[in-house]
Amino acid sequence: MTFENFVESAIQTARIIEIGEPAVTLAHPLLNGVPYSVFRREVSIETRREIGAFFSSDAMAMELVSQLEGRIDDDALVLDPTCGIGNLLLARAATLPLHDTLASTLTSWGERLAGFDSRDDLVQLCKVRLCMLARARGNFNDEIDPLRTFPQILGRDMFAPESEELLSRADAVLFNPPFGKTRWPEKLGWASGEINAAAIFLDRLTSVLKPMAPIAAVLPEVLRCGARYARFRSMLSQRNYSGTFTLRGRFDPWTDVDVFTTLLTRSTADEPLWRSATADQSTQLADRYEIRVGTVVPHRDPESGASRLYICAKTTPAWEPAFEPSGRRLYQGRVFSPPFVVIRRTSSPSDKMRAVATVVTGKEPVAVENHLLVAIPNDASLSACQSLIEMLRLPEINERLNDLMRCRHLTTGAIKSLPWIAPSV
Ligand SMILES: C[S@@+](CC[C@H](N)C(=O)[O-])C[C@H]1O[C@@H](n2cnc3c(N)ncnc32)[C@H](O)[C@@H]1O
Repeated sequence: MTFENFVESAIQTARIIEIGEPAVTLAHPLLNGVPYSVFRREVSIETRREIGAFFSSDAMAMELVSQLEGRIDDDALVLDPTCGIGNLLLARAATLPLHDTLASTLTSWGERLAGFDSRDDLVQLCKVRLCMLARARGNFNDEIDPLRTFPQILGRDMFAPESEELLSRADAVLFNPPFGKTRWPEKLGWASGEINAAAIFLDRLTSVLKPMAPIAAVLPEVLRCGARYARFRSMLSQRNYSGTFTLRGRFDPWTDVDVFTTLLTRSTADEPLWRSATADQSTQLADRYEIRVGTVVPHRDPESGASRLYICAKTTPAWEPAFEPSGRRLYQGRVFSPPFVVIRRTSSPSDKMRAVATVVTGKEPVAVENHLLVAIPNDASLSACQSLIEMLRLPEINERLNDLMRCRHLTTGAIKSLPWIAPSV
C-alpha cells in the first residue's frame, strides 16, 4: 500500500464507525507505531532526510508535554510548528478534557491545538489520529469529517509570512524540528554555509513567539555544545532565553543523532542557557593550558611551504608520555612548539575513554592535523603535559565529559571547562 493510499484509508477509518465494528481503543493501530512504520517503508530515506521527518517516540512526546505542566493554563493554545503525523500534539491532546460529543470534544481541542507541516498528507494523518484519540478516549461513534477538524493545524511552511500570526498567538510550543544540515538562502546573523536546520527553525520560532510562551524541545546536541553554534547560543541568550537540559543520547533506532531535551523560557534575569547544573567554579583547564584545534586540513591545505614535522590522529600513539614525531609534510600555516598535548577530537559516548591524549616532545615545531586538539601548558613544561594526560585518564573526567556532551567531536569549550585535578604524586 502506498503512503497516499494509507492516508486515504485512515481518513475513511476516522470518519465513521460502522454498526457492528468494534469500538476504537487506545491500542488502535493508527494511534500506535503503524503510521510511522508505513511512512518509513513507503517514503524514501532521501525524502525523509530532505524534510527531516523523524518522529518522536511516545516517551519523548510525553516528556515534552510534561515539561509544560504547571506553566500553562488548561485552555492554552499549544503549537507544534513542524507537527508531522502529530505525535507531540497527540500527547498534549491526551491531557485535554473530553466533552459530551465527539464534535464538541474536537471543537474544544481544535481551539487548543495548532500546528504546521509543509506536507499536507502528514497534516491529514495528524488530524485523523487526533480524531481517533478522541474516539478512543470518549468511546464516541458519531460520524465526522476528520479533514474539517482542527482549523489551526495547517499544511503550511512554518517560515511562510502567513504562518506568523498563528505562531505569535501560541501560548506554548512543543518542538522537534528537522535536524539535517542545510544551506539557508537568507543571511543569518550567527552562521553561514551548511547549518543544522534545527538552529534555523529555532531562530525563526524565537523571533516571532510571544515573550512568555515556553518551548519544550528535543534538539540535536551540536546546538548545545558545537563550537560553530556559539553565536547561535548567544543570539538565544540575547533574546533572554534560558533553560536547563537533559541528555537523551541517540534520538531513536532509526535516527543516529544525539539529542537533548530542554524547556526554553524567557526572563530578564541573567539565567544561563543550557549550562549543566553541576558546573564547577574551581580552577578549569583553560586557566592552565591554551586549548587549540590543530590547523592542518589534509585534503584542503596545499603541500607547499616549509618542510614541517607533522602529526595526525592516525599516526599518533595513544597515551604516549613522550612521543617524538618523525613524519613530515610541506606546510605554511601555524605550527606548535613542543612540549604540548594532543587530544583526539573524534570521540563518542560509547568509547571507553572520551579524551585520548598524547604528549608531543622534540625540539622542532610541529604541524598538527585538525582532528587533534592541542593543549599548550602556560608554563611550557613537560611535567604539566604529563599531568594533563594523567588527569584525562581519570574516571571522573571521563564521566564529566560524558555528562557534558554527547557530540561525536570533543570541542575546545568542553576541554577548557574541565575542572583541574592535580596529579596524585
Ligand atoms: C522531526 S519531524 C517532527 C514531527 C513531530 N513534531 C514529531 O515530533 O513527531 C519534522 C517535521 O517537520 C516538517 N517540516 C520540514 N520543514 C518544514 C517547514 N519549513 N515548515 C513546516 N514543517 C516542516 C517535516 O515534514 C517533518 O514532518
